[in-house]
Amino acid sequence: MKIAFFSTQSYDRKYFDQVNRHYGYELLYFEASLNEKTAILAEGCQAVCIFVNDQANALTLENLHKLGIRNIVLRCAGFNQVDLEKTAALGMRVLRVPAYSPESIAEHALALILTLNRKTHKAYNRVREGNFSLQRLTGFNISGKSIGIIGLGKIGLAFARIMQGFGCRILAFDPFTKDVPAYIELCDRDTLFEQSQIISIHCPLNADTKHLINAASLAKMKEGVMLINTSRGAVIRTPDVIEALKSGKLGYLGIDVYEQEDKLFFRDLSESVIPDDQILRLMSFPNVLITAHQAFLTHEALTEIAETTLSNLKSIVEGRENPNQVSNGF
Ligand code: NAI
Repeated sequence: MKIAFFSTQSYDRKYFDQVNRHYGYELLYFEASLNEKTAILAEGCQAVCIFVNDQANALTLENLHKLGIRNIVLRCAGFNQVDLEKTAALGMRVLRVPAYSPESIAEHALALILTLNRKTHKAYNRVREGNFSLQRLTGFNISGKSIGIIGLGKIGLAFARIMQGFGCRILAFDPFTKDVPAYIELCDRDTLFEQSQIISIHCPLNADTKHLINAASLAKMKEGVMLINTSRGAVIRTPDVIEALKSGKLGYLGIDVYEQEDKLFFRDLSESVIPDDQILRLMSFPNVLITAHQAFLTHEALTEIAETTLSNLKSIVEGRENPNQVSNGF
């Protein structure tokens, strides 16, 4: 089987080549992201392998279909970038990696919290320049604080376990989860907004969660709240968050994802004019920390992603049912 990989980075090649020794597929790596124009690169392949910012929209899918491609494998968990009505109409199979080391994402959320709070990124730079002053480095104890988790799935639960270890009160909102460990208080969304000092988002992006964090929900939150988003950028309405940062309502913002990240992330733009005014405004705040969608970037997660993706492809080759298949309306 021949597979076209889009949006490939050096770490993708490294981990996929290693794991592919056991499978022996022909892997074609492209740096370009998938869209209606680049779909042609997959000519002669039986499947395409895509990541979070590839655009499997209707036109792109039609172009792939014309090339005879019937299989889309996602090397990620979220599948909001795929038009599932179109794949169903075209009879295309979509498989994903539903779980790969949820701890890697949960631990990155923690890294954002600790860095924003204790300002270790600022201390590092100061000390390197011989500035040993402690001015403006004061943080707060995490222990004893109320942590609000939106979306208590695999990553949300891994994050809850970590924060329990810090001695926090754990609140969670998840409309579909009922049986949760006793130390977690399930609550409604407004209670979570009103009572949490730190809010961490771990739900998928869908019609219900798009712009869930907006002016109205921010107004319900505590003064100076810390907001962490490692799920999908569009869960946050960026202009509203910028206003909340300007007023001081939002005390800290840590994001690994950004609504318009597809034009920015995974690229070195250090010599370019960045064409996105909203991210530049976010970057100008001293209490905002942005990482470029790297929460998944651990050895364990990359190994697991490659293993599951290639095993998904094997099930396609063998014509087997696969629980990792994403269906329309899933
Ligand atoms: P999961 O499917 O195990 O959990 C998601 C949870 O969100 C479920 O319990 C579901 O009931 C809940 N949920 C659904 N709609 C909701 C709503 N309207 N409000 C609150 N909760 C809702 O997924 P998992 O593995 O925990 O991943 C969560 C998200 O994290 C993914 O959808 C993906 O967008 C993001 N992610 C980000 C990564 C990164 O590198 N930054 C890597 C992997 C995932």
